[in-house]
Amino acid sequence: MRWSGIIEAPRQRPKDGADDTSWFVGTEGSGYSLRPSDAQNTRRLSDMSDSAKPSRRRILVTSALPYSNGPIHLGKMLEDMQADAWVRFQRMRGHHCTFVCADDAHGTTTMLAAEEQGVTPEELIERLRQVHVRDFRAFRVAHDNYHSTHSEENRALTAMLYLRCRDAGAITTRQVDQLYDPEKQMFLADRFVRGTCPRCGAEDQPGDNCDNCSATYDAMELKSPRSAISGAVPEVKSSLHYFFELGQFETFLKEWTRSGTLQRDVANKLSEWLNAGLRAWDISRDEPYFGIKIPDTDDKYFYVWMDAPIGYLASFQNLFARDGGNERIEDYLEPDTDVELHHFIGKDIINFHGLFWPAVLHCAGFRTPTKIHTHGFVTVGGEKMSKSRGTFILAGTYAEHLDGDYLRYYFATKLSPSMADMDINFDDFVQRVNSDLVGKVVNIASRCAGFINRGHAGALSNTCHDEALWQDFVDAGERIAQMYEDNEFSKLVREISALADKANQYIAHHEPWTLAKQPGKEQAVQDICTMGLNLFRVLMVYLKPIVPGMVERAEALFGGAELTWDDHAEFLKDAKIEKFEPLLARIDKKVVDRLVEASKEDVEASKEDVEASKEDVGASATTTSGEITQSQYIDYEEFAKIDLRVARIVKAEHVEGADKLLRLTLDLDGDVRQVFAGIKEAYEPARLEGRLTVVVANLKPRKMRFGVSEGMVLAAGPGGEDIFLISPDDGADPGMEVR
Ligand code: MSP
Ligand code: ZN
Repeated sequence: MRWSGIIEAPRQRPKDGADDTSWFVGTEGSGYSLRPSDAQNTRRLSDMSDSAKPSRRRILVTSALPYSNGPIHLGKMLEDMQADAWVRFQRMRGHHCTFVCADDAHGTTTMLAAEEQGVTPEELIERLRQVHVRDFRAFRVAHDNYHSTHSEENRALTAMLYLRCRDAGAITTRQVDQLYDPEKQMFLADRFVRGTCPRCGAEDQPGDNCDNCSATYDAMELKSPRSAISGAVPEVKSSLHYFFELGQFETFLKEWTRSGTLQRDVANKLSEWLNAGLRAWDISRDEPYFGIKIPDTDDKYFYVWMDAPIGYLASFQNLFARDGGNERIEDYLEPDTDVELHHFIGKDIINFHGLFWPAVLHCAGFRTPTKIHTHGFVTVGGEKMSKSRGTFILAGTYAEHLDGDYLRYYFATKLSPSMADMDINFDDFVQRVNSDLVGKVVNIASRCAGFINRGHAGALSNTCHDEALWQDFVDAGERIAQMYEDNEFSKLVREISALADKANQYIAHHEPWTLAKQPGKEQAVQDICTMGLNLFRVLMVYLKPIVPGMVERAEALFGGAELTWDDHAEFLKDAKIEKFEPLLARIDKKVVDRLVEASKEDVEASKEDVEASKEDVGASATTTSGEITQSQYIDYEEFAKIDLRVARIVKAEHVEGADKLLRLTLDLDGDVRQVFAGIKEAYEPARLEGRLTVVVANLKPRKMRFGVSEGMVLAAGPGGEDIFLISPDDGADPGMEVR
């Protein structure tokens, strides 16, 4: 058996003809899950006749796995909003969709970052995974599962795929010369080497290309090379590497990339590489590496990009196991499966998804992706998101200021099935949301609901007042559905906006507010407003995948039932509506300004993190491994340079516009200092006043956005709410030396 013993214990496969509702039995495990439409899909399935079932598609969807190297930013969020809207659309149509993501946890960067922060890589990646889950939730991105590539499922699947590729003759080995850091005892990827440019002579250039003259070169060509990690002079050392022979799949890939799985511009881009000839792909890395060990080796690991896409499968596998049903990812990998597999990715990673991934799957005897949906990059103000301009916006910071639905809508107005970049322009953002979504769409309901609530006790009338207009709205349904299917988001938003214009023209033409003042016109008012509310309800169906939070509130207006796609053709008569509650407020431009300010502050905070971690490298190295190596010792003289003092916190205050900082006024026996400390999330200012702590008194004063900081207070803990200020025992006095 191909599968036996490779992945977990085999579970029973569904028998042919067995009730396939097992697909929909969703028990939510301990993992992250937001599955809004499962209940709806279950109900709808039981309503379906047997003959209707074959048209129900079974679709697996993924978004790219973000690296475990920081919080989610708005660029990545675009991708997941797009994928999430696509998934919500499919579910509204009655298809069964499973949507997963995970963190891409492996690699040298994770290893080094953990070391620097004095935590294990496992602790570091779990902390980030939780931040990522929180970020996605704030934007109503409803992954069914959010797993990690650092998982047993992924280890087993990666080993299995590799062995199948090896059995198929696609794995080769050969010796490779590479720069080696003798101090750190590790091979150095190009980005970890710096030196003098071999072309123009500029000093301190990266190992792959020169910032000064843009020349590209091999790290081994650099003059006076240095390890960026330890500063040591690297040596050239040879080591055995494992390769995936991509060239064997040239014919297959030429056909596959043109078979409708890719957008045309993506296929064209890949053709350039295909025509230039495919080189073997180096899939191994030497110890030390945070990753998955290659089977039958002692010290070789898979390069992170080998196990990353397999992480998609691992996340499905983990979900299915938690759900306890009959689903197994293996079944969906059979070449003849009719289960669809869709990946949503950005344009920078098309080579991995459009060449390596299908080649590996094909080589292992498996199915390949049904479709790769590639998007362009988010820019801000016409430029790449930039930390220094405050345009590098974190999803978490955005969510502290504004509802995710606003951005979901705005991104939808920009998204097309091309690789074109999408620009966030804040004035345009406020304008589009306020005038199109709130001003046009929400306005229809707020104009009509009041008359029905006040004049007719919430009752809709039993006639459709304008059949032709109604038919117009219904007919748009199939067109809009096709646009969702094809990622034509900006087009469909324009179509919906045009329908909203028609609805508003209809209401303006009939002027229910004028009729309401005329005796005997009650019926007309009720008919017109019933018409208006029904048109609005159709728009809610069409917009639901994009602005799920707003539409949920609209569903409450119509009694609370979840809108499905079929509802777009159903005219509500003789029904009752609930009291109208505001669906979506206009955006206040000032809040957007505050978001930009807060984003600048995020950058300050992350700089502080970097500096803080640089400052205590010695300490962290001891906490990671528990042992101190020779190079990490410092002399007493070095320690004695640090002037540590007891200080009394005489005043602690919030800082206007700062999310993380408190301004502390410290008294060191008459020497009064102002210090900004990133402890706001952990401490109420009032709790701090009067207590003693320890301060680094001779730290160079630093100019910050809010003023000069004249020292640093000492605290333990990873950050956020987990910060613990150091205090001396009773009896210590302000100004006392600490040593
Ligand atoms: N870990 C890899 C993906 C592995 S998938 C098996 C990776 N991670 S990433 O964090 O750098 O990027 C994650 C996704 O976000 C990618 O699809 C990438 O294209 C996308 N984006 C990153 N920056 C972006 C923008 N500024 N705009 C839009 N998407 C962006 O690559
Ligand atoms: Zn140069």
